[in-house]
Amino acid sequence: MENQNKSAADRSKPQPKNTFSGNLGYILAVAGSAVGLGNIWRFPYLAAKYGGGIFLLIYLILMLTFGYTLIVSETALGRMTGKSPVGAFQSFGKKKWLKFGGWINAVIPILILPYYSVIGGWVVKYLFEYLRGHAEALASEDYFGGFIADSLTSEICFALFVIATFFVIIAGVQNGIETVSKIIMPILVVLALITAVYSVTRPGALAGVKYFLIPNFRNFSLMTVVAAMGQMFYSLSLAMGILYTYGSYLKKDSDIEKNTTQVEWFDTGIAILAGLMIIPAVFAFSGGDMATLKAGPSLMFITLPKVFDSMGMANIIGSVFFFMVLFAALTSAISLFETSVSTIVEELGVKRLPSCLIVLGISLLLGTASVLGYGTLDFVRIFGMQVLDFFDFLTNSLMMPVSALFTCILILRMVGFDGIAKEVKISSQFKRQGMYNFVMKYIAPFFLIVILLSSIASVLGWITF
Ligand code: PFF
Repeated sequence: MENQNKSAADRSKPQPKNTFSGNLGYILAVAGSAVGLGNIWRFPYLAAKYGGGIFLLIYLILMLTFGYTLIVSETALGRMTGKSPVGAFQSFGKKKWLKFGGWINAVIPILILPYYSVIGGWVVKYLFEYLRGHAEALASEDYFGGFIADSLTSEICFALFVIATFFVIIAGVQNGIETVSKIIMPILVVLALITAVYSVTRPGALAGVKYFLIPNFRNFSLMTVVAAMGQMFYSLSLAMGILYTYGSYLKKDSDIEKNTTQVEWFDTGIAILAGLMIIPAVFAFSGGDMATLKAGPSLMFITLPKVFDSMGMANIIGSVFFFMVLFAALTSAISLFETSVSTIVEELGVKRLPSCLIVLGISLLLGTASVLGYGTLDFVRIFGMQVLDFFDFLTNSLMMPVSALFTCILILRMVGFDGIAKEVKISSQFKRQGMYNFVMKYIAPFFLIVILLSSIASVLGWITF
């Protein structure tokens, strides 16, 4: 652990290795990591389940305050130390809590990748079926349930997704993929826009638009905040070491503040668009049925095929759409895979290829558990949750608040507001510095502890939402 021997002066030096070629390269990589299944699959189902407009409002408030504060913090700490999370934390000393803080950040992507790839596998399956011209079958009510109950087919699709990600990583072509996503992303946005307009103009859809956009305080519960917070971490790839790593590659003249603002709005824009595609359609096609609104992870796969089917040319639209979602999912999975690999290489001293194989092995193992949890092992419940839901809850609602808390403690106790401001101001005006300090000092730690305690209490059944 070479970084432990570094002096404070060394820490502030820019790291020349592996810097992004320019601002655009950085924004593409961060946006590629941020925009993925979290926006298109996860955000709409959470918004549908946890109160619609009130969820959206809380999400936006959290994104602009908390989200901003954490993105800036992680990126600045990464750039300041030139290290990924474990190294970044240990640049400030050898205390045990610093070690723990770094490691919890680093472990989360290793736990997300497996179940992320299971959903990636669902996208593979839908793309394949659209290409074969099966749009009508996909739009039927029981299709999705039948598919995930069939463990063998789900396992094959899941394995295809992880293995594809693995090959991208070992071939070292992820930069190429990020560049191609520069073309794919705008097409995805246009197609999502067309589908959203179609969706919201269906008869009966207006009730859904209202449900999604107008906050109704009667739908508020503490779980709305817990879910919105977890989603914000997930969608912006926060509290899991990614932005430390990307920040460590960032040049000193790259404007952290401007990049942050662009990425957070782009990411949120895509999520809102996905919400407009899916939630009004639930009202138009299922009459706003509560059971459908609360369908959870399956929502996108149940609702979108119905929308496409009624649009005409469903096989073509479905193929193009799921191809693009697959691409967005792949760029996110690449960043999860790459960060996991670099932690193993840098911190455990394992060579790159064996590290890739370790991550592949863990993913296949834990992902298979999630696949079976919906099929052969359907009866298994962990704290009342199915396996995939459990991993999602464990990482988003339990581990991420803890890892974000450690970032806050690192700043409050070791780096100081001045340290962060000095780093940010190398390249930015830091217009929101007042808000940053306020959130970091008075809101973040307290709020994170409340979120964490409510997640624990809910899982133990002490409180119900
Ligand atoms: N932010 C990604 C999404 O919204 O799909 C998910 C993700 C990717 C999380 C990469 C974490 C990460 F490191």
